[in-house]
Amino acid sequence: MGKDPGATKINYLRISVTDRCNLRCRYCTYWRDWRKLPAKEILRYEELLRLAAIAGRMGISKVRITGGEPLVRRGLAEFLGKLRHVPGIAKICLTTNGVLLPELAPALYKTGLRHLNVSLDTLRRERYRQITGQDNLAEVLAGLEKSAALGFHPLKINCVVLRGINDDEVLDLAMLARDHPYQVRFIELMPSVSRQWWQRHFVPMPEVLQRLMVLGPLLPSTQEATAGPARNFRLPGFRGELGCISPMSGHHCHTCNRLRLTADGKLRPCLLAPSKLDLKEPLRLGLSDDLLGYFFKEAMKKKTGKTEFPLFPSHHPGWSMASIGG
Ligand code: 5AD
Repeated sequence: MGKDPGATKINYLRISVTDRCNLRCRYCTYWRDWRKLPAKEILRYEELLRLAAIAGRMGISKVRITGGEPLVRRGLAEFLGKLRHVPGIAKICLTTNGVLLPELAPALYKTGLRHLNVSLDTLRRERYRQITGQDNLAEVLAGLEKSAALGFHPLKINCVVLRGINDDEVLDLAMLARDHPYQVRFIELMPSVSRQWWQRHFVPMPEVLQRLMVLGPLLPSTQEATAGPARNFRLPGFRGELGCISPMSGHHCHTCNRLRLTADGKLRPCLLAPSKLDLKEPLRLGLSDDLLGYFFKEAMKKKTGKTEFPLFPSHHPGWSMASIGG
């Protein structure tokens, strides 16, 4: 079933450039079940550029590069430099865990990229290790500072709030937005984990908001509203802003404007629905741009505007942020 006429325009494509990641976040996926995609299964940069150009013709104007962790793929900066010149693609954003930013931020900046989302759930070294499996907090913090100094803007920080793990750090994390021009966004845990783990660690957004209110009045953001699921706030005396993303309690499927392309070339209308269209085979078989464009149109039609939550991995084995691209 398609969306109502006049419903949200699908103009946003998230491209996962790799299924590999240098972290092993607890909430992200079952890494023990994960099998690296063979290199030939992953779309080459030239293939991604061709698909981006077709997407641009089909009405996609914003692209977000995700993974896995996109910065672990070699040649990413060069690819971004080329993506920038694809007609129709007006805005390019990158989501990263930030570990490689100290090294790569200057090269990324040179490509013209300005929009960065960095995942950071804690400011405590031991916890960072507990959540991500790696001891890289210092690199992420240095990467953020370096990126801000270079001029990346907006610089958004994504914090998944986890009960009993980092929920006591909501205010500390929010303070990053007082002292830096960051937009700190709190995210509800989605069910990419076992039901048990989700139930134990899920924190509903109203609870996070309640905690934030001790910082002062949450005022409407001055930034232009985007079609995304985040609700943004500013606080008196803060250099940056705060944001809330509530995929579970918020039900924002009806405003969803995005498609996702997985690293192995599957076009998915929805993060949580199993439906996907393979683009890799048709691409490698030499189909014309017009025919490939048809796949984008099909995926756009498949967006129904509603998905039922919660969907645990046991219900849908294809559910993995690392392979779909968070
Ligand atoms: N729930 C909420 N957010 C998640 N992310 C990854 N897995 C989950 C989940 N289960 C977020 C990460 C990262 C982004 C790519 O997706 O925090 O910022």
